[in-house]
Amino acid sequence: MMLSSSTKDVPHAPAAPRHIAIIMDGNGRWATRRFLPRVAGHAKGVEAVRGIVEACIERGVEYLTLFAFSSENWRRPADEVSLLMKLFVTALEREVAKMHANGIRLKVVGDLGRFDAKLQELIAEAERKTSGNTRLTVTVCANYGGRWDMMQAVNKLIAANPGISDFSEEHLAPYLALSYAPEPDLFIRTGGEQRISNFLLWQLAYTELYFTETYWPDFNDAALDEAIASYRQRERRFGRTSAQVTERKKAS
Ligand code: IPE
Ligand code: IPE
Ligand code: MG
Repeated sequence: MMLSSSTKDVPHAPAAPRHIAIIMDGNGRWATRRFLPRVAGHAKGVEAVRGIVEACIERGVEYLTLFAFSSENWRRPADEVSLLMKLFVTALEREVAKMHANGIRLKVVGDLGRFDAKLQELIAEAERKTSGNTRLTVTVCANYGGRWDMMQAVNKLIAANPGISDFSEEHLAPYLALSYAPEPDLFIRTGGEQRISNFLLWQLAYTELYFTETYWPDFNDAALDEAIASYRQRERRFGRTSAQVTERKKAS
């Protein structure tokens, strides 16, 4: 299936977001504020994920993409990195059966080769088990970076087409890590920073951006509804004028 590209065609802009992408930030500060170790914030962050996944199902969201660990997060202290890896393993061990029962398809994208063998196996098994589910696709971006994604896609494209140059967007798209999903409608970053931090650089071309001060462990259903309400107020023009958008809405 060829998914529409926001730069090539004017996509259908749904009233409710089909695809939400989230930078789950602020776990460390949430914990520090409570005089707890940073990892306590990460543990609480896993609970918030559970809540938001359920909320997305209830709201009919089809794709939820979560930034869990960036290519740059290896720069953190070794003990924090290793605890994050342990949390990832435990979360997979505990949650996958439930996710499967709820009709969730799980995908993990990123440079997974850097993870230890056990974690890689758990990921492969979880993806295999849930691959036929269609209610909600949850993508966890782990050791992911937007630039990594574009470069791995470029390299695959060139390897598959030796001697050819002058590629277009449509040629590259199938090699990108999220090729199975439409471009995100709504991007949310919790924790107060207003930056992309090397998340989905390609796919966010026309995504509506929403930033909130709320730390990720506190991000609940009500917070999600506020983000969706903000999304609903936006006029998605994709390069056209406001008058053109109104015209097209009347016609449809
Ligand atoms: C986000 O929370 C989780 C990861 C990056 C793994 P942080 O750990 O970045 O929390 P802050 O930004 O330091 O508060
Ligand atoms: C982005 O958060 C990555 C994740 C949430 C996984 P960071 O906390 O690593 O981002 P910066 O360093 O503040 O930009
Ligand atoms: Mg952070």
